[in-house]
Amino acid sequence: EKAGYKHFMLKEINEQPRAIRDTTLGRISLDTGRVFLDNLSITDEEFRAATQITIAACGTSWHAGLAGKFMIERLARLPVDVDYASEYRYRDPIADPRAIGLLITQSGETADTLAAQAELIAKGSKTLAICNVVGSAVTRRASGTITTNAGPEIGVASTKAFTAQLTALFVLALHLAQVRDTISPEQSLHLATELSHLPSKLESILALHSSTKVGMSEGVAAPTPAAAAPASARTPLPPFPFIERRTRPRLSLDEHCQHLAKLFHNANNFLFLGRGIHYPIALEGALKLKEISYIHAEGYPAGEMKHGPNALIDESLPVVCIATKDPNDPSSVLKYEKTLSNIQEVTARSGRVIAIATQGDDEICNLVEHTIYIPPAPELLLPILEVVPLQLLAYHIAVRRGCDVDQPRNLAKSVTVE
Ligand code: F6R
Repeated sequence: EKAGYKHFMLKEINEQPRAIRDTTLGRISLDTGRVFLDNLSITDEEFRAATQITIAACGTSWHAGLAGKFMIERLARLPVDVDYASEYRYRDPIADPRAIGLLITQSGETADTLAAQAELIAKGSKTLAICNVVGSAVTRRASGTITTNAGPEIGVASTKAFTAQLTALFVLALHLAQVRDTISPEQSLHLATELSHLPSKLESILALHSSTKVGMSEGVAAPTPAAAAPASARTPLPPFPFIERRTRPRLSLDEHCQHLAKLFHNANNFLFLGRGIHYPIALEGALKLKEISYIHAEGYPAGEMKHGPNALIDESLPVVCIATKDPNDPSSVLKYEKTLSNIQEVTARSGRVIAIATQGDDEICNLVEHTIYIPPAPELLLPILEVVPLQLLAYHIAVRRGCDVDQPRNLAKSVTVE
């Protein structure tokens, strides 16, 4: 049932190209870029009259919502609020029947998300769901559902459901932009075409490597149950530089993450940094690491570091920096340049930087210890690519620490209590 993979999580990480393809399939014309969403009882007129979108979700799905805010605001010029579903009804939200509620949930059964949906409906809003389970509670109460066709997700840590949610949010943002006439037909076609290229780009970085499958060479030494050892007994991190960047043979993404896991699995803390739409991905990278490896990790907006958290940085702190860019998008380039300055602040304080960068960026690898490259894509689609190395990094660190990757302690796949 794990199709030869050691864990469901690894299988599901590798299923992401298909999950994204299936979430797009039949919803976008590649001739015109037009989006078609079936079975919504929200009319185009209602979408045009909408004053805002209110997103409510939990955990990983909330991170997707945060990224979705950037997509919808940028493309459809419609304000978006993103709430933790578990908080929504406790802030006495302002009623506006022209606001559309958007619930994002893999299971469709999360009690907090259902409570937020009930509150939205009680205040007179129509609700839409982005959900992975057809017929689940949230979809029965919604005025329409965009199903993420990721297929059943068994690993407790969400992976393919997350990238499918990002895909569905992008499709929705494009739809809203077309209905509200905030995007040109050329832009629509360009973005639809770029979206259709994502699965093969992901396939190229996941490119099944022998080391991914059980029973084949692991590429690195066998996992050690380091989690059991007290912090004081753990070996210190090896000194920088570990590797000669220029001479090291090219590694596959999976091998690269295994290598990084070998170096950093004993760290007590991790920091994940990003700006703009990449900040929610930093949060997601930190959550993946926390939940399956039990290492304390924080996601932070890169520009906020100087307002406090820089004090945490020392030579024992791995800092994963998302520093991707879309060279055709001036705001993305500006953000990238600011992120580079933030990275320099980390390296100046001896922090151990692992950068996620765009292929072709030869500048960044001279600034940091480790660089993981992802293929180029438009700014709003980069998150779908850049989260994958973060999932694999968390996975390999957890495996090395001897953790139960598919069934982390204290967690359940579906949280049906508030
Ligand atoms: C993290 C994770 C959880 C869920 C959250 C919401 O990997 O899986 O944070 O995202 O419990 O669950 P759903 O999406 O089913 O509402």
